[in-house]
Parts: sequence; structure tokens; C-alpha cells
Amino acid sequence: MVLSADSSERLSFLRRIQQGDLVIVYERHDHMKAVKVTEGCVMQNRFGVFKHSDWIGKPFGSKVFSNKNGFVYLLAPTPELWTLVLSHRTQILYIADISFVVMYLEIVPGCLVLESGTGSGSLTTSLARAVAPTGHVYTFDFHEQRAASAREDFEKTGVNSLVTVGVRDIQGEGFPNDFLGQADAVFLDLPQPWLAIPSAGKMLKPDGILCSFSPCIEQVQRSCETLNLQFTDIRTFEILLRTYEVKETRVEFSKGDEGFSFRSPPHKKRQHSTDKGNAVEASGPATVMAKPCGESRGHTGYLTFARLKCLS
Ligand SMILES: C[S@@+](CC[C@H](N)C(=O)[O-])C[C@H]1O[C@@H](n2cnc3c(N)ncnc32)[C@H](O)[C@@H]1O
Repeated sequence: MVLSADSSERLSFLRRIQQGDLVIVYERHDHMKAVKVTEGCVMQNRFGVFKHSDWIGKPFGSKVFSNKNGFVYLLAPTPELWTLVLSHRTQILYIADISFVVMYLEIVPGCLVLESGTGSGSLTTSLARAVAPTGHVYTFDFHEQRAASAREDFEKTGVNSLVTVGVRDIQGEGFPNDFLGQADAVFLDLPQPWLAIPSAGKMLKPDGILCSFSPCIEQVQRSCETLNLQFTDIRTFEILLRTYEVKETRVEFSKGDEGFSFRSPPHKKRQHSTDKGNAVEASGPATVMAKPCGESRGHTGYLTFARLKCLS
């Protein structure tokens, strides 16, 4: 995992793959998985059998081959890729929301961040990188097994020295008093965040920022009523990401009763055909077309940010 704010020290630049490393095996942007490199083990997929021993000593980013000359890429387990491959024990935050949260919470190296619930640790992993190398994330979940699995994952991805996972009912008990006035930022992903907001306010440094993620607008309304008592600059955002599919195609143009019209032929090969009696006049050169992906992720939730009122 990347622990340094300096991009020249990125794990993938610094190190070669070693026995015991976690690598992201990349087939396609929508087909990746995390694998622990173990001498003597193999990974098998539709492209053949890959020996882990062939991977050891290669730089991250390498293309490696199977016994059938199929290939995959071995990538470093960055938070961005980890979010796409981690095992979902809960709903998770994805890159669009995560990047906005890190920016709007003004998280920089050295920050102390409080989070609840931990869930699958998707957000926590990015928070850890943002506070590295001198900051710390204290994350709490009331579900013991989830907290334990999150700890195991943070160990696997190498952020465990930057994250402490606590088991605690944050809605019922609030954050521990050890953090009174110490937190630079607090993040809540809880079903009833308004119950945890008064405690979060006590934990923040003057001018500290809170963010609450909720899937339903009714939760946002209730949270805002509570935030209003202690916080200022309250704002809610919904982040919608639009992904484009880009492919090379040939455009044919044909002359009909209503003049020229353009269409993409059904097959890649250049072809001369007629369409409803319209003669195909010419086939254009290969061109790159982009269209929004049909399966773009829609609503995930609302992100409400607020800054602690400074009373003095
Ligand atoms: C949706 S998940 C959080 C997902 C996380 N943001 C991520 O990106 O992976 C919500 C978590 O809150 C935890 N939770 C619910 N109520 C809680 C409470 N009162 N105190 C602490 N954790 C709680 C649940 O156990 C669950 O793991």
C-alpha cells in the first residue's frame, strides 16, 4: 500500500514483488482480484496457469504470462484498486464519494481522523493513505466480526500502522473521551448519524470538519437539524459519476430521401449494403466513438459536510 505523500516513493516505483506481497491481478478494468504471492502456488484463470514464483522479483505493473501464453498485469494494491476488489461485508463507499470526502474533509498527512462505522474498510484505507506517514485513523464499528475482518484487511494492505479499529456502539456511547478536542475530521456512515453528531462535535478541534454519509434524504434532514446546533457551513452533495465507453468504429454515411445520414455498421468490417433502399455511398475511416456506459453507478448516498462553530 502507498504510505508516502511523495509520489516518487510510491510502492510500485520503489519495490519489486516479494514473497507474501498482496498484488492486484488485472485482466481488465472490470476484472481484477487480490492475490497473496506465495512461492510454490499457482493462479489459474481462463488464460491458463500462472506460477507465483514467476512473479517474485518483478516490478509492480509487470505483464506476466501463463503456461498458454495468456497474460495479466500485476498491480500494486493502492486504495483505488483495493476498493474495487475487497470483499463486501457491508455496503461500501466508492472512489467518487471517497475522493470528494478526502478533499472536503481537508485531510492531509498528520491528521487525526475519527470514523464510524468501519464496515468493509473501503473508505478507511483511503483515509489511512491521506494521513500517512504521521497521522492516524481511529475507526469504530459495533459489529465485532466486521471489526476483526477489517483489522485483517488493513494488515494485508499494509495500512495497519496507520489505523486502529475499535469495537463500540458510537450511536449509543459516542466516541471515547480520549479524543476530546483532538480530531481534525470525523466521518460517519451510520444508520442514525444524528445520535452520534453531538459526540463528534466534542471530539473535533475548533474549526474541524464532519462528514456524514446517508443513502436517504430523510436521514440527511434529521442530521442537518442536529448539526445546526453546533456546526456552521452545512452543505449536502450527491456525487454522480458518468463513465464513458470508448471504442474504435467505422462510420458509414448514406444518401436517402432526407439527405445524408450517418450510422455505425453492425460489423467491424467495411461493408457495402443497402438500408431501406438507401444506397451506401461511402465508408468512412476508422474513428473513435465515446458513449456513456449503460451500467454507470447512480445514486449512492448524500454527503453532508459541516464545520464546527468556533465559539471564541
Ligand atoms: C455501510 S457500513 C460502512 C461502510 C464503510 N463506510 C466502507 O466504506 O466500507 C456501516 C457500518 O456501520 C456499523 N454500525 C451501525 N450502527 C453502528 C453503531 N451504533 N456504532 C458503530 N457502528 C455501527 C455497521 O456494523 C456497519 O459495519
